[in-house]
Amino acid sequence: MTVGQDPVKVMKQEVGKAAAARVKSGSIVGLGTGSTTAYALEYLGARIQSGELKDIKGIPTSFQASVLAKQYGIPLITLDECDRIDIAIDGADEVDPQKNLIKGGGAAHTREKIVDTLAEEFIVVVDSSKLVDKLGSTFLLPVEVLPMAIAPVMRKIEQLGGKPQLRMGVKKAGPVITDQGNMVIDVKFDAIANPAELEKTLNNIPGVLENGLFVGVTDVVLVGEVKDGKPSVREF
Ligand code: 5RP
Repeated sequence: MTVGQDPVKVMKQEVGKAAAARVKSGSIVGLGTGSTTAYALEYLGARIQSGELKDIKGIPTSFQASVLAKQYGIPLITLDECDRIDIAIDGADEVDPQKNLIKGGGAAHTREKIVDTLAEEFIVVVDSSKLVDKLGSTFLLPVEVLPMAIAPVMRKIEQLGGKPQLRMGVKKAGPVITDQGNMVIDVKFDAIANPAELEKTLNNIPGVLENGLFVGVTDVVLVGEVKDGKPSVREF
């Protein structure tokens, strides 16, 4: 790392590169969303452009992922055109010691869950700040909701002990609208004792499309770190 470099950016770049290095020729790749995955897509594109990787097809998890894939020359297909996903690379907002995740910081968790859970191998790329002992300790839990159901879903979440807030746009008046035309409620739970149960309970509320708990789906977590001024990547 050189003087003046942003350590978080360096960690994200290194971990993105490490994930892209695991992709093999002939693979169908789930393309995640977020600033860390963006580096993985950049390096994946570079490997394709150099001829080192052949016959790669990407399945994007968001509008952002499609735009980046086109920019970096990663050919895209849809889920209708394939019967498998070999590997998916995606970021996370929190990772617990069991490799369970909170995702949805980019409001893309619904499509991310579809693509990531279909992959033979799901690789999560994070910098070390995302590691937590308990899910929900640093990040609110995102829940994607049909706009007409916002009020009853918020009431139901309050009955479950959560404190919901509608996610508002930045440089956009009004709420964040997802790639599917829905809204996102971010929920503070004092403790998420049983992530698997909460994931199901929330998805069972009429009007909820998907929540950001990813339980038991991660195969590999690659963690970018900076130690003694040197960037490194470790796997757990
Ligand atoms: C988007 C996500 C992202 O993967 C998550 O928010 C991590 O993003 P970043 O790598 O920018 O921190 O779940 O919905």
